[in-house]
Amino acid sequence: AFIRYFEQQGHQAVPSSALIPQADPTLLFTNAGMVQFKDTFLGLEQRPYKRATTSQKCLRVSGKHNDLENVGPSPRHHTFFEMLGNFSFGDYFKRDAIRFAWHLLIDELGLPLERMWFSVYNDDDEAERLWIEAGAPKERVLRFGKKDNWWSMGDTGPCGPSSEIHYYWGDLATQTAAGVNKDDEYLEIWNLVFMQYDAKPDGTLAPLPAPSVDTGAGLERLASILQGKDNNYDTDAFAPIMARIQELLGQDDAHRQQNLARYRAIADHSRSISFLIAEGVMPGNEGRNYVLRMILRRAAR
Ligand code: SER
Repeated sequence: AFIRYFEQQGHQAVPSSALIPQADPTLLFTNAGMVQFKDTFLGLEQRPYKRATTSQKCLRVSGKHNDLENVGPSPRHHTFFEMLGNFSFGDYFKRDAIRFAWHLLIDELGLPLERMWFSVYNDDDEAERLWIEAGAPKERVLRFGKKDNWWSMGDTGPCGPSSEIHYYWGDLATQTAAGVNKDDEYLEIWNLVFMQYDAKPDGTLAPLPAPSVDTGAGLERLASILQGKDNNYDTDAFAPIMARIQELLGQDDAHRQQNLARYRAIADHSRSISFLIAEGVMPGNEGRNYVLRMILRRAAR
């Protein structure tokens, strides 16, 4: 539905790139949808389209974005996941990025506005105004600093202020703005990055050739909301894997419940391991091979 929606809005559907970045020595693994478009954002590569949409295989185990230790205890963090994205290469900017996200989530997928929160970067008055124009109540648009609302791929490369969409799945009576970016009941589902700069190795920010858009929504998280589950492991992507683990162990539901974090870590890590091996990575002592071995060991432990 995501890809189809953005195709209807004039985006080219592009296949996921590999987990192993083909020509980028700054990254061990693809950690976001924008990785395959890095040179397009930087103006170093021209593509025959200015708008694209993808469902990208991602691995967040090493480097700047690392979720390994959250996997198991967290109902929604993964080492391997699929990131849904829409991209503008110097075409549309904040207004349409916000309009598209609103239209897809609220009008097409039918998410309830009374559970939605929107965040913008500290001084981004424009993004705040655009959310309100789209239909968000002012008190649901919050401001955060660099930690939450600034995105960069790594220490260098394209970056910029971002705007996030959060979904509250708890009891409506206890919902509050103070829980966003803090409590587990507030789920970050989509990050809209307004790409404007290229971070240089000396720390300076050079403007990109044109303001651009890079967004990332967690497929597994959106699925949990649309399937009415309070965690990703009960969705159709994971339920069969969880059931298979239980079957291999010959255990009952009480055992799964008592060892939930362990089942979840095994389910998550099995996916990562499978995709890495499928791309030719082997357990070993260095670099990517070491990361694979580390994930495998954590699952075994
Ligand atoms: N690059 C941003 C992220 O990973 C948006 O896609 O969150």
